Formats: sequence, C-alpha cells, structure tokens
Amino acid sequence: MQGLTAELIKGLWYVAAPGRDLKPGKTLAKTLVGEPVLMGRSKTGEVFAIRDVCPHRGIPLRYGQFDGETVQCCYHGWRFDQTGTCVEIPSLREGQQMDLGKIRCGSYPCVERQGMIWIFFPRAGETPAEAGYPEPPLMPDFDVATGPRFHIMLPFHCSMDHAAFGLMDPTHAAYVHTSWWFKKGAKKLRPKEKHFAPSELGWSMVRHELPPQNIAYKILGTPVTTEISYMLPGLRIENIRGSKYQATGLTAITPVNEGETEVHQFFWVSAGWMSAFKPIFEHLMRTFLDQDRVVVIQQREGLIHKPNLMLINDADTQARWWMRVKDTFVKAQADGKPFENPIQPMTLRWRS
Ligand code: FES
Ligand SMILES: [Fe+2]
Repeated sequence: MQGLTAELIKGLWYVAAPGRDLKPGKTLAKTLVGEPVLMGRSKTGEVFAIRDVCPHRGIPLRYGQFDGETVQCCYHGWRFDQTGTCVEIPSLREGQQMDLGKIRCGSYPCVERQGMIWIFFPRAGETPAEAGYPEPPLMPDFDVATGPRFHIMLPFHCSMDHAAFGLMDPTHAAYVHTSWWFKKGAKKLRPKEKHFAPSELGWSMVRHELPPQNIAYKILGTPVTTEISYMLPGLRIENIRGSKYQATGLTAITPVNEGETEVHQFFWVSAGWMSAFKPIFEHLMRTFLDQDRVVVIQQREGLIHKPNLMLINDADTQARWWMRVKDTFVKAQADGKPFENPIQPMTLRWRS
C-alpha cells in the first residue's frame, strides 16, 4: 500500500465543481487529476472544459479573456473555441494562411448533471463511450435537472487513497467525529453487522432500516431506509428514503495531483423547507468534514516515515476492497478488457 501518493485513474468521470460556481460568461481554472483544466460556461449556459495551456508558447489560457464564446490567450491573442480549437491568430496577413483547425489546446468531455459539473479524464485519446462510461452516475431519486440543496468542498492534503479510506472507514467516527451533536465519544461502541454486495464500479452496503432513535433521519419520516454505494473513482452515494421525504448524499473525491485532493459533499433533499436551514446545515457539514481533513494532515506526519500500514478484518475490509477494485480496474484498462468486479457479497462485523 502506498503512503503519500496514489496513481491517478483515468478513463472515468470526476466531479469538477458545483454548477453554481460557474456563472454564464465566466471561466474557472483548476488542476484536476493532474491536468490543467479551464472550465467555462457560455453566455447561453453550456459548460465546457479545455486544457489550460496555450499551444503557441504554453502560457495558461486562464490569464486571457473569455467573451462568452471563445477564449483569447493573453500573450499573442490567439483565440480558441469551446472544443479547444484555434479560430483566430491575429498576426496573420494575406498569404499567411494556416489550417487553424489543426491547432488545438485540447478539451475534455464536460457535462452538467444534477447541479454538478463532471469532467471525463481520458486515457490517451479515448472517449467516454470507448471507455464504457458515456455518462457520469446519476444520484438516485432526483432528476437530472435538480441541483443539490447543500454543498461544501474542502481541500485535503493527502493522496486520493487516504481520502477514500476515510469514506469507507466505519470505526473512526467515534474518535474523530466527536462533536456533541453527532457522537458522544468512544465509550458507547456497539456491535454492527452490515451486508454488502457488488455494484457497478464498486460495492454497496445493502438497503437497511435506520434505528428509530436517529433524529436526523426522523425528519424524513419513519421508517427510514438507507443504501450506501462506494464506487470508482472515489464516490460515496448514500440514498435515504423516509415515508415523507428522500435524501441523497454524495461525497466525491477528486484528486488535484498525487498528494492533494478535493473532497466535495453534496446533499439533495426532497423537503423544500430544508433550504431555510442551509447556513446551519452547511456549517455542520463543514465541521464534520474538517475533522476528517485535520486527521489526514496529522497522519501525514507519520506517513513521511513510510511505515508499513495495516488493514484489519472486518473494520478495514472495505479499504481492502477499494484497493482491489482500483487495481482490477487499472489492470483491465491496461489489458484492454472490460472491468470485472472482484467483490463478492459478504457480511461484515465490527464495533463502532
Ligand atoms: S502564447 Fe498564447 S497566443 Fe502566444
Ligand atoms: Fe469521517
């Protein structure tokens, strides 16, 4: 198991930003999955993503201008459309024709679904269809036009693997998430038993009923059931169904590079009145996620010394699955074969 760095997986859709961060006629530059990306939203509302490096002399295109249709480089004014193709070189005079269509900064498949901007990071020129994933996953119970009611993002100073382990780690909560409103410390550990089954690109904790004393879920109307899915490239989707309302939470891990990661949390809730609690809810989400962020910073101090790390049964079985699913996926890509999920149905037991 690697300590500080992790291989960046290509050939999948990644959450790049919430749609609301990109207004019409604006651009947003980020490094994602090790690539320099310039996202933009045209005046008519469509999103796009091009490679943020000018093919003329390499300056990032984010320093230029976006007029709502094309991006103009700040250095010599070359202009690029939303597919990353050059459409104007201002210095050219008569007789100096060039085939501008052959000059490209490159672009990435980019779509907006459910209020999120997703970008597909291909392996050497492959399209989403060729990779077998023409669309990013849809959040259950909400239609494609419905945006999240709540969103936060925190940068984590760690590799994608260590951020992902936090998503599927059932026994850290009692020690790390010790806010009065969540857990009251590690004194009340209870035996747990959950059933798991393989699902596309990962596995799911199969749908089960939540205990009636769970106040947060009581809002949705008891009985409440939940299903939690974990999938590449670092998504945790929790779908909660109550008798009155439904809620879906997504934690999406998007690597910036091998040692830095963006962790997004989104919530869709069918109860419209919950928007009134947005500041409180997002504050609680941030407090909770920040506890995870701080612990990986502390962990980094130890990982620098390259310890041999341990994954134990059954508390860390899902972390093992994560490594297996990831390795199998990368190997299938290298062999040019379809991904075959290595996970088998299983019941895991632990105390938390
Ligand atoms: S470097 Fe971009 S136009 Fe010259
Ligand atoms: Fe956590």
